[in-house]
Amino acid sequence: MSTYHLKNSDDYQTAYQNSINDPIDFWANIAKNNFDWHKPWDTVFDWHQDTAKIQWFKGGRLNITENLLDRHLAQRGQSTALIFEPNDPSEPHECITYQALYLRVNKMANVLKSQGVKKGDRVCIYLPMIPELAISVLACAKIGAVHSVVFGGFSATALATRINDCDCRLVITSDGGFRGAKIIDLKDIVDEALEACPGVATVLVVERIKTKIRMKEGRDQWLAPLFNAASDQCQATSMEAEDPLFILYTSGSTGKPKGMVHSCGGYMVYTAYTFKNVFQYQPDDVYWCTADIGWITGHSYIIYGPLANGATSLMFEGVPSYPDFGRFWAIIQKHKVHQFYTAPTAIRALAKESLDFVRPYDLSSLKVLGSVGEPINEEAWQWYSDHIGKGTTPVVDTWWQTETGGIMIAPLPGITKTIPTYATLPMPGIEPVLLDENGHLLEGATQGFLYIKHPWPSIARTIWGDHDRYKATYFPKFKDKYMTGDGALRDAAGNYRITGRTDDVIIVSGHNLGTAPIEDAINEHPLVAESAIVGQPHQIKGNSLFGFITLKDEPTPETEAVLHKAINELITKRIGAIAKLNEMIFCPGLPKTRSGKIMRRILRNIANGTTDQLGDTSTLLNPEVVDQIIRLAKK
Ligand code: WT7
Repeated sequence: MSTYHLKNSDDYQTAYQNSINDPIDFWANIAKNNFDWHKPWDTVFDWHQDTAKIQWFKGGRLNITENLLDRHLAQRGQSTALIFEPNDPSEPHECITYQALYLRVNKMANVLKSQGVKKGDRVCIYLPMIPELAISVLACAKIGAVHSVVFGGFSATALATRINDCDCRLVITSDGGFRGAKIIDLKDIVDEALEACPGVATVLVVERIKTKIRMKEGRDQWLAPLFNAASDQCQATSMEAEDPLFILYTSGSTGKPKGMVHSCGGYMVYTAYTFKNVFQYQPDDVYWCTADIGWITGHSYIIYGPLANGATSLMFEGVPSYPDFGRFWAIIQKHKVHQFYTAPTAIRALAKESLDFVRPYDLSSLKVLGSVGEPINEEAWQWYSDHIGKGTTPVVDTWWQTETGGIMIAPLPGITKTIPTYATLPMPGIEPVLLDENGHLLEGATQGFLYIKHPWPSIARTIWGDHDRYKATYFPKFKDKYMTGDGALRDAAGNYRITGRTDDVIIVSGHNLGTAPIEDAINEHPLVAESAIVGQPHQIKGNSLFGFITLKDEPTPETEAVLHKAINELITKRIGAIAKLNEMIFCPGLPKTRSGKIMRRILRNIANGTTDQLGDTSTLLNPEVVDQIIRLAKK
């Protein structure tokens, strides 16, 4: 028997040992005893290392929404599943019970069916953080359609790329969204994107901001009348455990974004299990994750993990600074939140403000504080622990990735030790290893490249439409180990501290940005010859982007001023405002190896002011540019 809820350190130790000695037996037990299946699986785990094909609970049949909704109805039908807290604090919040959510999902599922959506079809969801976002996700899952949620901060071009990559025929959006004092014109962005998406036949539009928008005849339909007319009964589609549940795009270090594909069975089991244990969720607790559902954190830990446990999950439409920097704390007080899960970038932004924004609020309901998205620096960790946790609420720093589907390394609050800046210990079933650059296994207290030894149930199964890229990205050197792309440090007690990306992905305010697409956007400018961007440590964002740009002609002060603006506009258009450069310098050349590869390491040192660590630059193709760039950077 594997214990679902780990209550103390012995439970954790036993579960961990069992899960490593016999992962198959461990996960089969958890899956069998805690979820509803239409049909048991034939094979618990199947892994072909040559093809990087991984399967869990193969042959098993289920519908994930029955595990999220139906099975709670008898006992907890009148309990709150979702709390919707609107952007504007004077607008009333909404509590949606499990029963009500179940019926609304059924209606939405019937709307999708009436529009011809079938099992396996891809549906793009581009919505603000309103209940219809969660309902749309669940409605897709109910009928076996594959949802692809695109974060509302992405531009029209980025949206179009994602729609076309997985061939979505239907898009769900809204007339717009509220974000702090701003209004986001989502429908306009969709209209622009769809000019490049001939495959999209239908757009369903949720009314949120009630502005006048353009509705394209024959393509666009308001959701409300369809929804109101739809039946609230709907048979869930029986899915194979390995059928795709959703696609979620994440940046790679090169090339177009990767559509990570998650499966129905393994993803359900792992996100549910980790939610229960990492947050030590108890019935009737109110849990709040501040992420947007457009990211994996929102998928796994606003919707799937919490609802699988019958939890009450709060979703917040707004931003931490609106109407003032006390909003998070006001919401915690208002809804008596027990578990609060946010990102280091938000913590740093709030820590910069006066404690007068924190003091007025009663935060005594809090039992667990979570952090996710990037390494949390010691100062932010302490501020969070001292001022929000009042020195007694444990802070769980959770390390994981879009690709891992669920939390991989994290303390269990009140059960295992927390250490500032350390994600600490692996979850049961997770076996991290550190390797040196030649692939040798490092033992004991050390630092190296972080790999995971054995696939766990929620590992992404492929990149949509490009399994070769999946294999090359995640199992590049060793067929038997998943490459995370992160570096990590391990102490003598086996605690892990994540040191950051080891590839060309830069995390800005918790958003994973690949350098290549940003450079491509910059290079589109007719005056630009070449560009390279690197991350520069930033007090609040963690990293900000620093661009080194060469022009086709000698720059003048006038062209530079114009270009500053034009380049950031291009980036905003191609990717989104999140990818704008904080600083850019126009240089005579970029340092290159003799094989023509840009030496980003050198540029990183220049951007960080650590030019004493440049090392030997004499082997470069053009060593002279290094000094020239250093001089320009100092200006
Ligand atoms: C990358 C994955 C996991 C959901 C949000 C991000 C970094 C994430 C931590 C953490 C240090 C972290 C890693 C990882 N990261 N959490 N607790 N400590 N680094 O998902 O967008 O796929 O990004 O975020 O570098 O590889 P993602």
